[in-house]
Amino acid sequence: MMRLDRFLAINKYGTRQDVKKMIRAGRVAVDGQAVRSPEYKLDEETAEVTVDGRIISYEKNHYLMLYKPAGCVSSTYEKGERSVLSYINEAYADDLFPVGRLDKDTQGLLLLTDDGVLAHQLLSPSKHVDKRYYVELEKEVSEDAVKKFQEGIDIGDEDRTMPAVLEFTSHPRHVYVTLHEGRYHQIKRMFEALDNRVAYLKRISMKELVLDEALKPGEYRKLTEEEIKKLKYGGGLCGSH
Ligand code: URA
Repeated sequence: MMRLDRFLAINKYGTRQDVKKMIRAGRVAVDGQAVRSPEYKLDEETAEVTVDGRIISYEKNHYLMLYKPAGCVSSTYEKGERSVLSYINEAYADDLFPVGRLDKDTQGLLLLTDDGVLAHQLLSPSKHVDKRYYVELEKEVSEDAVKKFQEGIDIGDEDRTMPAVLEFTSHPRHVYVTLHEGRYHQIKRMFEALDNRVAYLKRISMKELVLDEALKPGEYRKLTEEEIKKLKYGGGLCGSH
């Protein structure tokens, strides 16, 4: 159940104050009956809400891709730190949480959603969801690092890292790394184990979801229906994965 003013606000009909005015003015109806009380409770999944006679479709869940800038934390609240959620200017922002974490100094793709089922699917260690990063290092990366990444590296945990893919670029200190797991500071620790240091780290993709190049750090956009489907069902036809 949800209040009528909240229902309209999260569906982008204005601020809480705006929508209260609309409701009091008699412009809003629920299941065909005008409702003038902003506190009116409705079942958001089944009620038919209209504004000026037009039906509003309810978005059950929200999915945003944020280009996380450096200098903010992925947790929703941490004393004295700026949260990634502070970049989100939506009425439903408080319901969102980041799917996985990036370090404070790491930039790039961060999926924010209120869909706990999808978040669980993507974060479950057994699912081995691919995450691709662009990495700039302090020193050149040697050829044999590819094999080491493939074989797994001892970064001081109980187990070595799972096979990861290292790809070179035309620059000797710039590479791409694809991980199938996500341990604390994993890429930084992998390169430290090879006597190198990460100078810049940016996540490019997660599963099929690729950071939109049109976004600047701190900007976000909604996922398209296609992107949501691919994350949920692994691309192709629904459920065919
Ligand atoms: N690896 C890291 O070291 N940091 C991140 O934020 C992500 C992967």
